[in-house]
Amino acid sequence: MQNFIFQNPTKLYFGKGQLEHLQNELTNYGQNILLVYGGGSIKRNGLYDQVIDLLRNENKNIFELSGVEPNPRVTTARRGIKICKNEKIDFILAVGGGSTIDCTKAIAVGANSDEDIWDIVTKKANATSALPFGTVLTLAATGSEMNPGSVITNWETKEKHGWGTPFTFPDFSILDPAFTKTVPRDQTIYGMVDIMSHALEHYFHHEENTLLQDRMVEGILQTMVETAPKLLEDLENEEHRATVLYNGTMALNGMVSMGYHGDWATHNLEHAVSAVHDIPHGGGLAILFPNWMYHAIDENVTRFKQLAIRVFNVDPEGKSDKEIGLEGIDQLRAFWNSIDAPARLSDYDIGEDSVEEMADKTVIANTEFGNFKKLNREDAVRIYKASL
Ligand code: NZQ
Ligand code: ZN
Repeated sequence: MQNFIFQNPTKLYFGKGQLEHLQNELTNYGQNILLVYGGGSIKRNGLYDQVIDLLRNENKNIFELSGVEPNPRVTTARRGIKICKNEKIDFILAVGGGSTIDCTKAIAVGANSDEDIWDIVTKKANATSALPFGTVLTLAATGSEMNPGSVITNWETKEKHGWGTPFTFPDFSILDPAFTKTVPRDQTIYGMVDIMSHALEHYFHHEENTLLQDRMVEGILQTMVETAPKLLEDLENEEHRATVLYNGTMALNGMVSMGYHGDWATHNLEHAVSAVHDIPHGGGLAILFPNWMYHAIDENVTRFKQLAIRVFNVDPEGKSDKEIGLEGIDQLRAFWNSIDAPARLSDYDIGEDSVEEMADKTVIANTEFGNFKKLNREDAVRIYKASL
């Protein structure tokens, strides 16, 4: 295990009725509030009205940025930054899924900077501070509610990049499973695949003696394998929604990944796919992750064997380590198939003609990527071709 320093400043309000704490939280900030949300789901399910009432009770001046896209665009963040600068916004409230929260992080940093936000996302310029912001999460998936990461798309250049700063942890996040009950079936599936993928990205590393971390990551995977089919049978079940919601936060808030670095190549591969084709992040991961695993298994067969036995209950009797590991990957593929996650790029009408362009995008920032197995452009091409 490596040395580590851990600090996560986000205050989490989890559970039924926790929105009531918003009013008290709002007393910590100035009068001018920017409310950021997506394409309208919060208007349809009534959350918008509840939030507006709470803001009005505190006599806040409310400004709005709506229409944040899934795979949020830098152009939308720039619109938000302009509002912040023109209206002297004191605090930003994100109400939505990971895209709304990620866009809010870009707005919060851009509002305090003279640099263009895309230069900060692409690390050509540094962030120095951010406006304070909080979130009300409506979709279990990214963990953005309790981490400093953000993923922004530049549709003109067809680039999608993850970035983060010490200033982009939300001050607080309110997570009520009831707010996630209206997430449609397909988005629910994508969210669950994303959560499992974060666990899998953590799992593949070469660090010795990560016994507790391994068990925590396996715990997330096992809980998802157990709960996902139950939730899909009963999308309005608040208990299952709560389980998945808590899993989503824990999978990417730093708690299970202390003392080692996970792989993250599959996220890079997926971001390149959605940069070119604008597909849902979790859908892309469901297609790519098993193919990355087949590609990477020889890097450390023991990790794959452990995953297969502990999470997918593969019977090791009479099999080589590699056979056990491969069976585990097959089981993951079969599990995602069983919950109707996409399995092939052709499910999104992505064909061979697009492979080279996507592979180019994987190596824009660096020539190699991935920590467990270093990948280059040729590896990306092979994994995409296996995923067609
Ligand atoms: O826009 P609205 O109308 O709100 O609808 C959204 C959107 O269409 C809908 N939705 C959200 N909550 C709902 C709901 N519909 C009904 N009822 C609700 N309660 O769901 C759709 C998808 O929303 P989005 O926010 O895009 O999904 P998600 O949370 O999966 O976020 C995906 C983005 O996060 C990035 C992804 O790359 C992608 O851009 N990621 C961010 C990470 C981070 N910040 O740490 C890590 C992840 O690995 C990921 O890369
Ligand atoms: Zn993800």
